[in-house]
Amino acid sequence: YVVDKGNHKHFMEKEIYEQPEVISHTLSHYIDFAEGKAKPIEGIDFANLDRLAISACGTAYYAGLIAKYWFERYARLPVEIDVASEFRYREMPLTGKMAALFVSQSGETADTLASLRYCKSEGVTIGAVVNVPESTIARESDAVFPTLAGPEIGVASTKAFTCQLSVLAALAIAAGKARGTLSDEQEAEMVQALVEGRRVLGEVLREIQPRIEALSRDLSHFKDVLYLGRGTNFPLALEGALKLKEISYIHAEGYAAGELKHGPIALIDEDMPVIVIAPHDQLYEKTVSNMQEVAARGGRIVLITDERGARETALQTMETIVLPQAAEIVTPLLYALPVQLIAYHTAVFMGTDVDQPRNLAKSVTVE
Ligand code: AGP
Repeated sequence: YVVDKGNHKHFMEKEIYEQPEVISHTLSHYIDFAEGKAKPIEGIDFANLDRLAISACGTAYYAGLIAKYWFERYARLPVEIDVASEFRYREMPLTGKMAALFVSQSGETADTLASLRYCKSEGVTIGAVVNVPESTIARESDAVFPTLAGPEIGVASTKAFTCQLSVLAALAIAAGKARGTLSDEQEAEMVQALVEGRRVLGEVLREIQPRIEALSRDLSHFKDVLYLGRGTNFPLALEGALKLKEISYIHAEGYAAGELKHGPIALIDEDMPVIVIAPHDQLYEKTVSNMQEVAARGGRIVLITDERGARETALQTMETIVLPQAAEIVTPLLYALPVQLIAYHTAVFMGTDVDQPRNLAKSVTVE
């Protein structure tokens, strides 16, 4: 990897556009595409676990949160997930057949390392999903699952996030196979979905870029933005809000769409755009009713969906971003792209220091 910006204005932009390549590369490390199978996992005996603990910080935590849905659904493995800075304080009993997984781009994040050491001192098997193979977290783990994103320079994590998702998706499939909760056919279908997913990433980036740039120009005039999603799109809503506030300094919040009526709906008016991440899946109808609640209160909606989702709503939107139809295991990878581009272009319009936002460090080595 050559660490320069190439033809891009910022490292963050370059790293967003590197994703089709690095995701492919990472997936190939964990999936045998010729055989249509996930490669077996070494170092953690997923077949014999009663539960899995995941902890991480920031964007890496959101990747873990998405993985919780996958491990529970596909491998029927209960997952406890915490932000690493809280993990030790709740004094979770580390008993039974459990393993702990730590997700970190840098492999040096102090909170994540502290929870790793805590689990280790209690005799728990440690796995690490890290982007820097020689990092402290990698060195102190029993099993290392590298993300092959290459160096990530922009403080806002982009390609490391989607590579974490790629590793975690492959691990969830392999765990499902090891635990006998996924059939050969289901595995083959999911692998095929990932093949198709990685094939369309580049095209998606090219196609959505102009609309997102125009949308971001409008968004840059607002002070607050709300992101909503259900299922795996809920952590993605959290990630969207984090990314936007980190680099554009616009106040943003992510919510589970169903929580809207339990509080944040009080904030809805024409001054707070609501970005709704809603592929046409089994949860789509419910999210549409949340959008109706927003529209009825004069809220502006930005809908990120697929062709079917776009066809099946008559709601007026500020913008609708349409992505290809994709299987559930692939949607977080695809939907991360518009979420990242919205934050990036909005920040560019705001004139902020995109790669080095104020008050933030790439790697947080204090607790
Ligand atoms: C992401 O955009 C952030 N800058 C931040 O939340 C980051 O993901 C977090 O600090 C964790 O870092 P790590 O992955 O290096 O452990």
